[in-house]
Amino acid sequence: MRMYDLIHKKKNGQALSTEEIEFFVRGVTSGEIPDSQIAALLMAVCLKNMDDREATDLTLSMLASGESADLSAIPGLKADKHSTGGVGDSTTPVVIPTVAACGLKVAKMSGRALGHTGGTIDKLESVPGTRTELSPEEFARVVNTVGAAVVGQTGTLCPADKKLYALRDFTATVENNALIASSIMSKKLASGADVIMLDVKYGSGAFIKDPEDARELARLMVKIGEGAGRRVGAIISSMDVPLGRAVGNALEMYEAADILCGNAEADKLEVCVALSAGMLSLADIAKGDEAKKMALDAINSGKAFDKLCEMLEAQGGDTSQLRDPSIRSYAPYKMELKAETEGYICSMNTEEIGLSEGMLGASRDSLDGKVDHLAGLEIIKKTGDKVSPADTVAILHSSRRELLEPAAKRLGKAITYSAEKPKLPPVIYATVGV
Ligand code: URA
Repeated sequence: MRMYDLIHKKKNGQALSTEEIEFFVRGVTSGEIPDSQIAALLMAVCLKNMDDREATDLTLSMLASGESADLSAIPGLKADKHSTGGVGDSTTPVVIPTVAACGLKVAKMSGRALGHTGGTIDKLESVPGTRTELSPEEFARVVNTVGAAVVGQTGTLCPADKKLYALRDFTATVENNALIASSIMSKKLASGADVIMLDVKYGSGAFIKDPEDARELARLMVKIGEGAGRRVGAIISSMDVPLGRAVGNALEMYEAADILCGNAEADKLEVCVALSAGMLSLADIAKGDEAKKMALDAINSGKAFDKLCEMLEAQGGDTSQLRDPSIRSYAPYKMELKAETEGYICSMNTEEIGLSEGMLGASRDSLDGKVDHLAGLEIIKKTGDKVSPADTVAILHSSRRELLEPAAKRLGKAITYSAEKPKLPPVIYATVGV
């Protein structure tokens, strides 16, 4: 078999066979196929696409390229959730303890921030002392005793995806449904959970801009997961409007604690409840409205907040700042961004908001880069809000004063104003598989 022939075939719009896809992934993993040929095939896939069978083969080959987590020390169903990537959209610290408080065990593996999208692991590590590198034994012990644990993905899961993802990032070939679905689902399958709930994002701050494309991505991921014997569901949710008001690692953890203590932003709560209910439903614990009520009861009773603290403490975290807002740490430097004009906020480009957050020091430019956990943004006015020039639209936080001004400029350009109140997209566009 020759890589040249695979590229040629895909360039002409033909489907690759299972053996050809296995050959490709084996060559990527071993390093035998040069980056130039890998990138050429990735571009051909972006232009000519892959059908469901090819996307499934690609997923299973990437899954086989590394180790899979062994969760056999955790009895019963194990659940996981995953967001395809957004800005300020951290739902994990709300959803995980909520379903755990309802009796569903969560064994979750998460990634770090890369590019303009945030990473759950960085957010959890903003809680002082929290360790996200647990041994398999420790991970199983925390899940078995507390009901939930979240750890960082190890490099031994899906090494082919690691290589492919880096090249895709470098060659403008991230945005393709078959490539995104296989990348995410290979890692989710390798993480070992039986129940996988996906939050597929669309809009300016997501990889997929169009909601119907996001629905198609969700359909494909659910099909791949079910084909591998897992219970998989998805919501398709908007990333055209910031979700909640916090963007930044510690700021988002404070917001999660506030949601669990009864001070919820309606849009973020809606997404968190839908994800929690989806997980409870896939696990056959409760269905439909009953599942939503169960999730809301766990939040309103404070049981979910207690579970969040219990989980973080079991992972070494000091939760005193989550419990007591008066002692929370904030970055030493702040700047307010005022509204540009009288009228309504017409749009907020959430990808640009994510990039402004990064400029404040909140995300990393390289995998080894350091993250300023206290950097970020508080969104005071959101799309659809009426403003006048005296109003603060956002407060920028950073540990380095010189980063505020350029980030504020970028943020200012990400916001447009109109005389008429804009129509807002629904927070949840559709549901697949639940
Ligand atoms: N997240 C991933 O892990 N892979 C993608 O391709 C896109 C988002």
